[in-house]
Amino acid sequence: MSRLTIDTLQAMKSQGEKIAVLTAYDASFAALLDGNGVDAFIVGDSLGMVCQGHDSTLPVTMNDMVYHSANVVRGSKRSYVIVDLPYQSYTTVEQTLKNAHRLIDEGGAQMVKLEGGQQQLKNIEALVAQGIPVCGHLGLEPQSVEKLGGYKVQGRDEDSATRILNDAKSLQQAGIQMLVLECIPASLGKLISKTLTIPVIGIGAGIDCDGQVLVTYDMLGISRGHKAKFVKNFLDGQKDIELAIRTYVDEVKQSQYPALEHSYQ
Ligand code: KIV
Repeated sequence: MSRLTIDTLQAMKSQGEKIAVLTAYDASFAALLDGNGVDAFIVGDSLGMVCQGHDSTLPVTMNDMVYHSANVVRGSKRSYVIVDLPYQSYTTVEQTLKNAHRLIDEGGAQMVKLEGGQQQLKNIEALVAQGIPVCGHLGLEPQSVEKLGGYKVQGRDEDSATRILNDAKSLQQAGIQMLVLECIPASLGKLISKTLTIPVIGIGAGIDCDGQVLVTYDMLGISRGHKAKFVKNFLDGQKDIELAIRTYVDEVKQSQYPALEHSYQ
């Protein structure tokens, strides 16, 4: 079986089929997600919190990302694999290219993800010029948690909503092929998803995004500490993990998740 490609995910957006994404960090979970209909994985730097026990994603290193990505790729066959560039691994164009190549060559990534708007345009253009598929990440950017003053909903006032929308357009213009929107009002998630031609994947960005992603440990109710409004425990009432994953995929595909109670206004 061959892996889905970005063309498959792009076609899903064009045909109005919702894209079901979850995070993956190891071979066993990757195999379970892969076998139960998950279209794509994000090997997210959230692993710093859910696997390593840190209170932010900032301590995660390039070696960590390469290690976890390679494990995920070994454990799976079909799902598309997107891997995060961690904090301070893309501060210059040279560093960005070197680290993105590591994620692809050593980690087996099909696409790399980075956080940020206008300030990332040079990095994105350089990656795209070398044929490296890029996913952007706007809204709540966890690598900027210190600057943002905590994990807060973004884009609630007109100025910041306009900035996020303009950043999204600029990133698409620079060549990203997918965008993650985190913790923004559902109306802004809808506007950006309708405006962009590339797939837009939401996490706390409302029902109208082209697809949804959750941290797998959150959707299984394993994570400890603060539970964000958008998180739903799909293991609740299910017999096993495989059924929970299939329920998540079905609810995303049928536009049942996220419901109003999981969305910001
Ligand atoms: O690190 C992560 O888990 C993410 C999520 C938005 C999927 O980037």
